[in-house]
Amino acid sequence: MMGSEIARGEFGIAGVARRTIVRGEGAYVWDATGGKYVDLGASLGVANLGHSHPRIVEAIQRQAGELVFVSSGYTTRPRIDFVDRLLSLMPPRLARVFLSNSGTEAMETAIKLARSATGRTEFVAMMRGFHGRTMGALSATWRSDLRRPFEPLVPGFAHVPLNDIAKLEAMVTDRTAGVIVELVQGEGGIHVADPEFIRAARTACDAHGAKLIFDEIQTGMGRTGRRWAFERYGIHPDILALAKSLAGGIPIGATVTTTDVEAKFQGTLHSTFGGNPIACAAGVAALDVLVNERIDERAERLGNAGRERLREFANPKIREVRGLGMMIGIELRERAAPYLEELRRRGYLASAAGPEVLRLLPPIPIAEADWDSALATIDEVLRDGR
Ligand SMILES: Cc1ncc(COP(=O)(O)O)c(C=O)c1O
Repeated sequence: MMGSEIARGEFGIAGVARRTIVRGEGAYVWDATGGKYVDLGASLGVANLGHSHPRIVEAIQRQAGELVFVSSGYTTRPRIDFVDRLLSLMPPRLARVFLSNSGTEAMETAIKLARSATGRTEFVAMMRGFHGRTMGALSATWRSDLRRPFEPLVPGFAHVPLNDIAKLEAMVTDRTAGVIVELVQGEGGIHVADPEFIRAARTACDAHGAKLIFDEIQTGMGRTGRRWAFERYGIHPDILALAKSLAGGIPIGATVTTTDVEAKFQGTLHSTFGGNPIACAAGVAALDVLVNERIDERAERLGNAGRERLREFANPKIREVRGLGMMIGIELRERAAPYLEELRRRGYLASAAGPEVLRLLPPIPIAEADWDSALATIDEVLRDGR
């Protein structure tokens, strides 16, 4: 078997050979030639709990042997259990959930809920924000290179700089349906929202009857040192979008909201696969792992230690180290791509968040020795050059 292959018939991704990954366990993945890597990007933030966590694998296998799918004309025990378990980890005001299959769908639902609950169509989102690639979520997304080829998008979306309270306050009006924020911008370069900015967003939404929407698709499930990043801020959204690691690697999306939004909602929501038995069984197991293994506390401890270590290196190529918990951005003074390639050669898979930001989102159960060596290797690679 070759190390790199192309799925030649596949449409929509760069037509370059990519490494074929055949196995994952904890923080590691292996390629088809036996090469072993530490997955420092948790496979785009999906493997927060580690690859193929035994508790999650067991739940998927058991559920697959019992019931793979049934239409939403019926319910299932995993579906009931998952919704109960998820809501038990939310503040009381977030008491309703709609299940879908991906982050972009969770955001699409968030947009529909805010529109319907307010009867308005305008949204304020953040510059550098990323929310997905379906038409509504793409309209909330900032990057013009992602948006332009598909214009015209959904009208009514404006963008303000994250943490600019004056611009936010000027933009939120009685016509605003919702304000959309990632508490730590993931794809946009690991920029952390200031607590005062989030407080101001809450106040502006309350003053104008708009809904505050947190996209925690990347920041949720322990990543920032809390189960959900909003817990750090002590501010609750009206609508919360979750996905990525919520079912330990099985596709899922969840939009959590209030009974007030539910009461005002008109229309219907439905998804054939949303809330399917396998995703929900995996989701119950994933939430158990999140709680039982105190994933949030580990992310806080290892993340803080990691950021401190990176700063101590005083590496001349590093402009800034930022983030929360185990969501870390290392802004370089030059492009990150060549260093990512050298890291891969040394057994570490990481990704960029923008051209100059090396992003670390390791599986949170990563062994401390692996985390230490990863950080030391990053320092070395930056010093050695490419
Ligand atoms: C913050 C955020 N929102 C939304 C999405 C879109 O999720 P998906 O790719 O599952 O549609 C992503 C994916 O990277 C994300 O990081």
